[in-house]
Amino acid sequence: MSGGIRTPGVERIHDPVALPAEDDLDRSLRPKKLDDFVGQDRIKQQLEIFIEAARARGEALDHVLLAGPPGLGKTSLAQIVANELEVDFVPTAGPALERKGDVASYLTALDSRSVFFVDEIHRLPKALEETFYPAMEDRKLPITVGQGAGARVVTLDLPEFTLIGATTRTGLLTTPLRDRFGVTHRLELYAPAELARIVLRSAGILDVDIDDPGAEAIAARARGTPRVANRLLKRVRDVAEVRGAGSIDARVAREGLDLLEVDEAGLDRLDRDILHNICGKFGGGPVGLSTLSVVVGEEPDTIEDVYEPYLLQQGFLMRTPRGRVATDAAFAHLGLEPPRDGTQRLF
Ligand SMILES: Nc1ncnc2c1ncn2[C@@H]1O[C@H](COP(=O)(O)OP(=O)(O)OP(=O)(O)O)[C@@H](O)[C@H]1O
Ligand SMILES: [Mg+2]
Repeated sequence: MSGGIRTPGVERIHDPVALPAEDDLDRSLRPKKLDDFVGQDRIKQQLEIFIEAARARGEALDHVLLAGPPGLGKTSLAQIVANELEVDFVPTAGPALERKGDVASYLTALDSRSVFFVDEIHRLPKALEETFYPAMEDRKLPITVGQGAGARVVTLDLPEFTLIGATTRTGLLTTPLRDRFGVTHRLELYAPAELARIVLRSAGILDVDIDDPGAEAIAARARGTPRVANRLLKRVRDVAEVRGAGSIDARVAREGLDLLEVDEAGLDRLDRDILHNICGKFGGGPVGLSTLSVVVGEEPDTIEDVYEPYLLQQGFLMRTPRGRVATDAAFAHLGLEPPRDGTQRLF
């Protein structure tokens, strides 16, 4: 994940990349079985069939690409697949693989049918991608031994394995790499009812007392993202302990969320900052991503991967060939008047 330009002292509860991707909270709340994994029903049904078939045939599962915004459950799903197949889970990440030797040492050490998980696969060095092609297709790994005139290519046989790649950006993957995955699953933002179920499940694990309206209040502001729902739950629990009797109902949840500056639409300060800038400074847009990045002080990648999906889904923002445009709904949300020539901005 990119480091980002951070405002010191400001914790971004909605920014899944503000904290290490693999923190303790994620780990403790991560579902272990397909049945524990809430929502994404179509993906689950398909995976269930593929897993069943692979098990019955005694073969490795076909390579899987998981795509979608941060915190929607890509890493969780990859681990679940390994669990369900009862095979090893060997995780790494695109940026951690620098040389061909790094890939070779992972691949040659795999137990048969293991899941080899490459997070942020879009950040795999381009020169290394080619190493993956024969490995994925034929379980072969050609390596060069020796140097200069004495150098020769030796082809190693690899064990059967399943590569699961995770990416926030399918667009950044080259076509040859993308084509070598048997299936691609795109995870979508979660519906509030699904997020409420996730909050209740997490509350059970964390031993937090919460009622249904409390869970729904948190879910409504979790911007479609399980990781955000879990983080909000944890912070609201703090508020409940300090202010109330320790249990979370709708009132305590709302009080906590207001304290965290998460508004009724689930927008945090940076979301509102983005909209305020487009609506105010740029008269509703269009404004280019790089300009937006400078005025709000956040990396373009983070704006695109973390903030925009939700703003787009909520209908506050539109992407046009000339840049980002704030919708009338965005003006209304901020209590501002949209410009009269509003429709012209879009074309
Ligand atoms: N469908 C789900 N059901 C229950 N909990 C979920 C679900 N999806 C995600 N979570 C929770 O959200 C947390 C974040 O999920 P995960 O780490 O799998 O997301 P990710 O897509 O890999 O994110 P990133 O792109 O940042 O790596 C998990 O620890 C888990 O607790
Ligand atoms: Mg992950």
